[in-house]
Amino acid sequence: MKFEKEINRRKTFAIISHPDAGKTTLTEKLLLFGGAIQTAGAVKSNKIKKHATSDFMEIERQRGISVATSVMTFEYEGFLINLLDTPGHKDFAEDTYRTLTAVDSVILVIDSVNGVEDQTRRLMEVCRMRDTPVIVFVNKMDRDGKNPFYLMEEIEAELKLTLHPMTWPINSGKDFKGVYNLSNKSLRLFAASTKGEEEETTFAISDLSEPILQAKIGDRDANQLREDVELIDGVYGELSNADYLSGKVAPVFFGSAVNNFGVQEMLDIFIKIAPVPRSRETSVRLLEVGEDKFSGFIFKIHANLDPKHRDRIAFLRVCSGRFERNKYFHHVRLDKDIRFSNPYSFLARSKDVIDDAYPGDVVGLFDTGSFKIGDTLTEGENFFFTGIPTFSPEIFKELVNKDPMKTKQLEKGVSQLTDEGVAQLFTQFGGNKKIIGCVGDLQFEVIQYRLLQEYGAACEFRTMPFFKACWLTSKDSKKLEDFLRFKQQNTANDKDGNPVYLAQSEWFLNTEISTNPDIQFHFTNEVHR
Ligand code: G4P
Repeated sequence: MKFEKEINRRKTFAIISHPDAGKTTLTEKLLLFGGAIQTAGAVKSNKIKKHATSDFMEIERQRGISVATSVMTFEYEGFLINLLDTPGHKDFAEDTYRTLTAVDSVILVIDSVNGVEDQTRRLMEVCRMRDTPVIVFVNKMDRDGKNPFYLMEEIEAELKLTLHPMTWPINSGKDFKGVYNLSNKSLRLFAASTKGEEEETTFAISDLSEPILQAKIGDRDANQLREDVELIDGVYGELSNADYLSGKVAPVFFGSAVNNFGVQEMLDIFIKIAPVPRSRETSVRLLEVGEDKFSGFIFKIHANLDPKHRDRIAFLRVCSGRFERNKYFHHVRLDKDIRFSNPYSFLARSKDVIDDAYPGDVVGLFDTGSFKIGDTLTEGENFFFTGIPTFSPEIFKELVNKDPMKTKQLEKGVSQLTDEGVAQLFTQFGGNKKIIGCVGDLQFEVIQYRLLQEYGAACEFRTMPFFKACWLTSKDSKKLEDFLRFKQQNTANDKDGNPVYLAQSEWFLNTEISTNPDIQFHFTNEVHR
């Protein structure tokens, strides 16, 4: 394998969680371990604050921060770790889903008090689509959380994931005494001082019947831990790396991110077991990560903050070979060779131009409009990466042009914003209405604001009664044509001209599915790529 050394030292991952579970806090602790930041509080939360003066102004501010923290790269124990940031706000979930296509594994943070929450479920669905390996970090053990066995049961049932405990907590909340590390058989004591600092001590306890255990945590807790560990050993045995790597089993750690407790245990195991960049499926063949020739895809596009400059940054994930500055690469969709003289590095210390990058790395490319999400770059071969789907929006609104003199600008703006992935555009069959679909309401504000600011085009939105878009295919083109004609009010073309059914409710959707057996309804656009 040509770049074996570089590939085998890279770990590219994302931290995902329901808002407030502790993603930002954990990110910061990991960066502290990696030496990428020196002080706590250096990582800006990318959450949209609840009481922001104006939502979209806050979004503009966040856009500034989030380019800088989009990819955080640090070194730890000889590994080069690329941590890809995901937006905290649920209205930007689509952005998170796309980022998940560019990572090799994830760490899922769960709040021990709240357990599995809405966003956790949806994010895990996306991980499951690609069998992404998952490590679970149960956070906030310093608060009175759920019983760990119940919590494990809840996570397994709700997320359809088999868990494997790597550490085990001794109580929670005020009584939280620490964790027992089941793999290296050591006890790590937790003691949060009143000043908010913590003292930690680690003891090797290979045999839990040793009296040192009582001495450290008292009789009652020692007995409970012995019982718990006996049960866990009986049920779980050794972690199978293969099961973790295939996404079937998720190792679980317990801790408290804000107290930096249990984080290092997780990081140390993470670098041992988390996958290095792997081979990926393409439209024509399996692309081996160790191939000599470069390939990569665009998973995110970020617009410039300055409305006078329309250039954008396209985020490229390198999948094979070596990306090189100033070398011509093939843009498959446009069938055009292009080169990049100023590729942007996200290395935490230097936002510099980089000369090369390897599989697992993310490179920022200045773009004047040639990229769309999912675009592939190669050294000449024609294929595209699969597994970068677009999901159905959840809110649909008709786009109404408020200024007919600016129709061209509006069209251009909408086209560029949808290329960026801010929203999806559909054109209704009956009446040619332009319909914008988003995951959250906030995005409509962003679109309206940006169309006016950046393109001088005024628009408003009219709510439409749809809740889901399904992409349609059929072996019988006549049947599909008839369906599209008869259901004009509920059918549209997506931006690439693919037919879509816009469902008013689950009931309508199920009825159409059962009465049209020759038509396939797909919940992502992957089928058309
Ligand atoms: P997020 O990125 O997942 O949205 O969560 P974030 O890290 O911002 O954490 C949400 C809140 O939970 C923060 O408090 C944070 O301090 C707190 N937190 C994180 N880890 C722990 C933990 O282990 N124990 C406890 N008790 N709290 C934790 P906040 O009040 O919302 O913000 P801040 O003012 O503390 O920054």
